[in-house]
Amino acid sequence: MSAITTTIEDLRVMAERRVPRMFYDYADSGSWTESTYRANEADFHKIKLRQRVACNMENRTTRTTMIGQEVAMPVAIAPTGFTGMQYADGEILAARAAEKFGVPFSLSTMSICSIEDVAAHTTAPFWFQLYVMRDKDFVERLIDRAKAANCSALILTLDLQVLGQRHKDLKNGLSAPPRPTLANLINLASKPRWCMGMLGTKRRTFGNIVGHAKGVGDLSSLSAWTAEQFDPTLSWADVEWIKNRWGGKLILKGIMDVEDARLAASSGADALIVSNHGGRQLDGAPSTIEALPAIVEAVGTEIEVWLDSGIRSGQDVLKAVALGARGTMIGRAFLYGLGAMGEEGVTRCLQIIHKELDLTMAFCGRTDIETVDRSILLPGTLPA
Ligand code: GLV
Repeated sequence: MSAITTTIEDLRVMAERRVPRMFYDYADSGSWTESTYRANEADFHKIKLRQRVACNMENRTTRTTMIGQEVAMPVAIAPTGFTGMQYADGEILAARAAEKFGVPFSLSTMSICSIEDVAAHTTAPFWFQLYVMRDKDFVERLIDRAKAANCSALILTLDLQVLGQRHKDLKNGLSAPPRPTLANLINLASKPRWCMGMLGTKRRTFGNIVGHAKGVGDLSSLSAWTAEQFDPTLSWADVEWIKNRWGGKLILKGIMDVEDARLAASSGADALIVSNHGGRQLDGAPSTIEALPAIVEAVGTEIEVWLDSGIRSGQDVLKAVALGARGTMIGRAFLYGLGAMGEEGVTRCLQIIHKELDLTMAFCGRTDIETVDRSILLPGTLPA
């Protein structure tokens, strides 16, 4: 029997107990001092809501669209690396939970389950997130594989040409699968549920890469792989060829600056995500909720503007929507659910966020998410 979980924090606490240290730490950390990681959450809390009363609150809906796709609420599952290390077959389980709930699932290039594997075990088309590598042949093949798997959008991540330093990952010797060191074996001995799951699956390293990329040194380590393979010369010209090669809906992830937002809008992409990679890349960058309003003002009529980083509740989703985000993405929130209880935990995460979103919207006197705007927020508490 699972304990009663009513908040994302409950799921986090459970995940911390059940997931091996290196993978829990991988999810729950930011780069360097983690100041941006903390600001992402803290800045949401500074924004206050306007309570309204005696409004008809019946027949509420959180349904809307993201890039023309119907969604049960303006929340998608973000692409996250090592997801299948939080829980055996994690990407397949999270994709299934998202499909049943009616929200999009995004698969990371750095996933454990491969594109083909997730496609074979789900029915709704998912989104594929692309990292640009030096090996352009490999990038082209990844794009073609996403097309063949019927992915309905490509998310191009622009903020990871180089990797932000995350102290815990280096100290833990993060790898998939974990190396059989004494420290790892001692830690794994206290995670029987996780070990049983992993013994029951063949999916234990990067499924999109192993057997597909050539001449790569240490495939199991994210830091080694990014340093060797990620393309530090990535440019807007690359965005153009990727857009052409893909030929479908394109989402640009990792925009924090108005100038970059303008370039993203003129690239012809369908959406941009205001994202600081969950505070995992440039520590010292502002929170995304602080960066959002200026970007919405600059390009919000030309391109869908979404937001990720720091969302831990339906209230955070509502605040982002009120400040002009047409959609949001959750990373850690769903990973905690996954690490805690597999597919059931991801479903729980989505239910928690949906309920918080729906009730908060009602308290603010709205019944339709499409009508939510800045007027539900207290002006003195907003980012400039
Ligand atoms: C990227 O995949 C990350 O670890 O943030």
